[in-house]
Parts: sequence; structure tokens; C-alpha cells
Amino acid sequence: MNELTIFSPATIANISCGFDVLGLALDTVGDEMTIRKVSQKGVRITKIIGQNLPKETHKNVAGVAALALLAEIESNFGFEIEIDKRIKPGSGIGSSAASSAGAVWAINELLGKPFNPLDLVRFAMEGERLASGVAHADNVAPALFGGFTLVRSYEPLDIIKINTPSELFATVIHPQIEIKTSDARNILKTTVPLKDAIKQWGNVGGLISGLYTNDYELIGRSLEDYIIEPIRSILIPAFDKVKEESINTGALGCGISGSGPSIFALSKGKEIATKVAETMKLVYDKVGIEYDIHVSKVNTKGIKILEIK
Ligand code: HSE
Repeated sequence: MNELTIFSPATIANISCGFDVLGLALDTVGDEMTIRKVSQKGVRITKIIGQNLPKETHKNVAGVAALALLAEIESNFGFEIEIDKRIKPGSGIGSSAASSAGAVWAINELLGKPFNPLDLVRFAMEGERLASGVAHADNVAPALFGGFTLVRSYEPLDIIKINTPSELFATVIHPQIEIKTSDARNILKTTVPLKDAIKQWGNVGGLISGLYTNDYELIGRSLEDYIIEPIRSILIPAFDKVKEESINTGALGCGISGSGPSIFALSKGKEIATKVAETMKLVYDKVGIEYDIHVSKVNTKGIKILEIK
């Protein structure tokens, strides 16, 4: 096996209450990447289609993540990476994470899996550091582990894969405006009032409990963010309206996907998730901003192999 073509999923980070610690992987949206083992040492990005992104290895998130992995092995060979970029950068659904995680996952497979998933998260986080200035793991972890993930601790890195209730579907609307994660982080306050922290960690516990007990009502009640959403939602046109109408349509909850501008809702069953998509479209048609919209089951596998050569 010298070459792998993979699907690397888009992800929803934060999931309302879990800023920088919670994330989930999507099934129907993601990048396709081909990673090839070659005799020439080092890492080269040989092709990028779909988006205008740097091909220089040190300026590309997939390149940087791959280099972080290769720095920990002895090798007299290298890798070429081709990226079919289907997730737009600055969309809030883990564009940089999909490229970073995909690169290190495929290289690890081609090497015969010398590294465990936690190591791969560590390497992929270097891509996130390049993209946003902060090595957050809440997008790369669900891409690599699949399903819902919790970053219990950053130092030392401790990641837990959480149960995914089988009927949980996500609806994501991506308004065609770009919000850089670094900008969306710079506007945040650095301290949290105790009364907000109490409500927030109550919800994190509630969400995790709901995911393990398949309690959809509890999941819905827990999808509230008292800390980040009130600040960031100002950057997203019609956020409050989308949230209100999605919940009126039957969504369990609704919030900002990652650092935005995408907005996500979780629903029980595909039928409600599809109705929520129609509702979101109606709101955005009135706003007059173009959008992409996705309905997806939660992807419990993470990265998937499409072709082996
Ligand atoms: N937790 C990160 C943030 C995710 O909200 O800034 C970015 O996708």
C-alpha cells in the first residue's frame, strides 16, 4: 500500500456549551485527499483543487501537521499530498482540521500505524496552530476519533470519545461570509463570571449525560452557551432568528458551529433535520446572503478510506 484516497469529515466544534472541548464529526461534508508515499524525503503538497490555498509545505495546514508527524520517526522516504478542498476555509465547520487530520491519519496508515489516535491529534493540532494561532483540538479530535469527542484536558492531552445516539442528525447552514477563527477568538473576554460558569458546566454535564443515555430532551436542554455565543452571534446575520425558528420547527437546540459563521442545529431524526434546513433557508432567503446547507447524520467513524493503491 503506497497511496490512499480518503474522506476527511467536516466537524462542528464547541457544540454550544463546550468551547474548545466538545466536537462532533459530520457524514456528508468533507474534503477528499490523496496521500502517496514517495522515495523523495519530506512532504510536498502537489495539488489543491476547490480553494486557493498555499502549496508551500510550511504554509499549508496539512503540510505542517505531516511534518510534525515525520519529525518523530526515522525515514528515508517522504509523502505527497493532494487535496480536493470541499470545505471552505473560514466556514466554521473545521476546514483546516479536515486537512490536518486527514494528512496525519493517512500517513499513519501508510506507515503501518506506529501512532495512536491521541498522537495524531497532537500532530494535527499543529495545523490548527498555523490556521488560527491556537492549537485547539475540538475539530481535529472528532475528525480522527469519529462521533462526539471531549477534550477533557489539554495538558496532558486527554481525549474521550462520547457515545452518539443513533437518531441524532445535524443541520448546518453556512452563510457565504468568512469569519477567521483568529478574529472570532480575539473578540472574546478572557474571564468568565462565576454565575455563567455554573450554568455552562451544568450544560456540559447535561449534554454528556444525554448523549450516553440517549435522552434527546436532555441533549436539547443542554445546548445553551452563556459565554461565547452572546459575543460571537453579533458577527452572524440573523443568528437569533435562525435559532428561534429552528427550535420552533422541532430542533433540539441550535448554536454557532465552531467560530462561525455556520450555524448548526441538532435534531432527532432526519425528517425534522430536513425541515429545520427548510426553515433556515427561508430565514436566509429573506436576509439575501447566499448559503450552503447540509443535513448530516453524526459520523461515528471519522476519516474513511475511499481508495487504496
Ligand atoms: N473552539 C474553536 C473556537 C473552534 O471556537 O474558536 C474553531 O473552529
